[in-house]
Amino acid sequence: MKMDKVAGSGNDEYMTPCYAIEPLLKYLKPFHTVWCPFDIERSNFVKMLREEGHEVIHTHIDEGKDFFTQNINCDVIVSNPPFSRKTEILERLFELDKPFAMLVGVVGLFESQRRFNMFKDNKFEIMYLNKRVSYLRSYDDERPAFNPPFSSVYVCHNILPQQIVFETVDNRRKVICSLSNQK
Ligand SMILES: C[S@@+](CC[C@H](N)C(=O)[O-])C[C@H]1O[C@@H](n2cnc3c(N)ncnc32)[C@H](O)[C@@H]1O
Repeated sequence: MKMDKVAGSGNDEYMTPCYAIEPLLKYLKPFHTVWCPFDIERSNFVKMLREEGHEVIHTHIDEGKDFFTQNINCDVIVSNPPFSRKTEILERLFELDKPFAMLVGVVGLFESQRRFNMFKDNKFEIMYLNKRVSYLRSYDDERPAFNPPFSSVYVCHNILPQQIVFETVDNRRKVICSLSNQK
């Protein structure tokens, strides 16, 4: 539980920089419609996935669309969810049984008995990044303002070709995305 506090930090409002989304894009090519369930129009997931040619449906609690009550017709589900609710979110994603990729803090990921059982009983893959992800506090930030003291990984289901994949990120570039690829 203590580890969950470290990884959850009690504040779920931090946004993903583009460089942390880049390594996932090649694995999403087979999928047409992407649901981003924790995202607004300005989300870098929404922008980058559209630029890659995907149809993107985004929903967010602030727009009255709670992930736990949405049933969206899509081919794959991709986002950075609120870390404080990662267990229930991953459980629902495994229940939906669509391919998914969720960026979450790795600290304590396998340590709760509930998540241990969930991972034991479901097929999943992990993408491990060479550098920690620093997050934005707002989409207006030019530089990440939140540097968690732990690594982030993509927990995936039916997306990666093997159970663990190592990818490289370049955290000196592509923090905010513009509609044409900004470097
Ligand atoms: C860690 S932030 C990531 C935002 C965005 N996905 C990104 O990566 O830039 C998670 C977001 O999920 C929203 N959220 C929290 N609970 C939610 C729920 N039940 N359904 C939909 N969105 C929720 C939070 O308000 C927050 O903006």
